[in-house]
Amino acid sequence: MLNFDDQINRINSSSLKWDNTKKRFGHDNLLPMWIADMDFKAPEPVLHAIQDRISHGIFGYTDVSTEAVDAILQWYETRHETTLQREWLTYSPSVVASLAIAVNAYSEPGDSCLIQTPVYPPFFDVVKNNDRELITNPLKLENDRYGIDFEDLEVKLAQKPKLMILCSPHNPVARVWSQEELLRILDLCLTYDVLLISDEIHADLVFSPNKHTMALQLDERYHDHIICCLSPSKTFNLAGLQASVVAIPNKRHRAAFNKYYSRFGLSQLNTLGMTAMATAYGQGADWLDELLTYLAENVRIVEQFIEEELPNVKLIKPEATYLLWLDFSSLELSDDELNQLLLSKGGIAMNAGTSFGSEGSGFMRLNIACPSAVVREGMERIKKAVTSLA
Ligand SMILES: Cc1ncc(COP(=O)(O)O)c(C=O)c1O
Repeated sequence: MLNFDDQINRINSSSLKWDNTKKRFGHDNLLPMWIADMDFKAPEPVLHAIQDRISHGIFGYTDVSTEAVDAILQWYETRHETTLQREWLTYSPSVVASLAIAVNAYSEPGDSCLIQTPVYPPFFDVVKNNDRELITNPLKLENDRYGIDFEDLEVKLAQKPKLMILCSPHNPVARVWSQEELLRILDLCLTYDVLLISDEIHADLVFSPNKHTMALQLDERYHDHIICCLSPSKTFNLAGLQASVVAIPNKRHRAAFNKYYSRFGLSQLNTLGMTAMATAYGQGADWLDELLTYLAENVRIVEQFIEEELPNVKLIKPEATYLLWLDFSSLELSDDELNQLLLSKGGIAMNAGTSFGSEGSGFMRLNIACPSAVVREGMERIKKAVTSLA
């Protein structure tokens, strides 16, 4: 059994999450449970492979090896029952970079792009920073579960955005879209000729009995409308190594993506990132299974804590991701007051709900990819903040 309980000091490791929190959040001694990386070491085989590669000592221009491609194809075949073709694959340092390239490759300034809010903040940025118009299809919260407002989606897609960026599974509402929901989205994309940019970075982090459906797992007739962004970075905690995959079945779309990519002089991947990606997909399955068990236990800890100690806070039950969406709206605070309360009275740094769009008002996002003792500490801090109101 792996030891996810180990508390590894990340301070002074150039960690975005742990270092400079005072500068970022304006308070000292914060427990950082915000940005989406994990406080766990990557799988042993990955660490060994990187160490071996470092021992080699030469870090010249790096190609994606045949073994790496084999490992990627095998991973999606066995874990997701999806057959990706070798020639569909192209690479990029990160999924956000892939999204930005897709916006540039498949639309022009002034065109519009659709996203479903609340959503991971860079979805807004890649559209707005590239001078495209944002169209939003807000998700519906019904009976404590988010769903898609398909009526509104059809109205918005009829406005002919050039593309729709789908978060699947969804960050921050932690939904795993069902096959039926995905088919409805794709049918609408076909009807209105909108490209679907499917960000599936959280595909592996799904809690049983939920099951992720890849967009490329569905009927071939959708393939020409799908750009699928994949990555080992969330699954195996490799975000700092900067290697990700894009699967694009349509040859013309693939060429457009690659053309835009090379426009900025981008070409190879980082040597260690490529090594880590190949090894993680090739040998990381057992580690991932254990991680999912551990994360599910962390979810249970939060659920139980809320039930017993925090009646004013509601947890949206996560179907996927290690990011929990907590509803503090019954405290009836402004978003700024809520944020400040948690920082100053609780000493905990989470992501403010409104950073995911106005629909996130009253919510906070909590990262539970850390030892269970830290999760408990985080919950105590939330309780301290909330009870200080009494
Ligand atoms: C939906 C989604 N896409 C992309 C990313 C970031 O991916 P990358 O670090 O590869 O840019 C995240 C990170 O939280 C995410 O949640």
